[in-house]
Amino acid sequence: MTSEIPIGVLTVSDRSFKGEYEDRSGPAIVAYLDRVLSSAWRPVARVVPDEQPLIESALIEMVEQHDCWMIVTTGGTGPAPRDVTPEATAAVVEKVLPGFGEAMRGVSRLHVPTAILSRQMAGIRGRSLIVNLPGSPKAIDECLDVVFPAIPDCLDLLGRNGLETKEEHFRPHLS
Ligand code: MTE
Repeated sequence: MTSEIPIGVLTVSDRSFKGEYEDRSGPAIVAYLDRVLSSAWRPVARVVPDEQPLIESALIEMVEQHDCWMIVTTGGTGPAPRDVTPEATAAVVEKVLPGFGEAMRGVSRLHVPTAILSRQMAGIRGRSLIVNLPGSPKAIDECLDVVFPAIPDCLDLLGRNGLETKEEHFRPHLS
């Protein structure tokens, strides 16, 4: 029996939460995953304001109740007072994966010099991978292109075998 792989898409934005601003980044993450994944999957999508306890509860719910293999967050990674997504992520993960933030900032700064303002991070809670992306819709593809080649292997190492991608370069060691 094939079942759909649950993947969390968490938009962190005061303005999107209040409906003052249309969330374009969450849908851009869904579109990216649709484009690259050949496995059947389903989004578990939420929009929360920039409040650390609410971000933490959404992440925990996506891991514990929905058993999301991976959660991609967008927004709240910068230096502004209300940007607390990395703090919320750090509070719920057991392991930090510094390579994700390093790689995304490294490539992103070739697109935009302000990329170094993002404190985006990644880590593991249980058997789930959590990856922070900046809030800009343009950042979604720029960042996911950099880290996606490592994601199926990362999930394999967490005992989640079977996230299949359409493009060979997402399984670099097999090509
Ligand atoms: N990274 C990429 N790839 N593309 C971008 O447009 N925007 C930057 C940065 N990282 C950006 C990016 C900007 S302007 C900011 S302020 C920080 O991400 C933090 O954004 P956030 O607080 O919306 O998460």
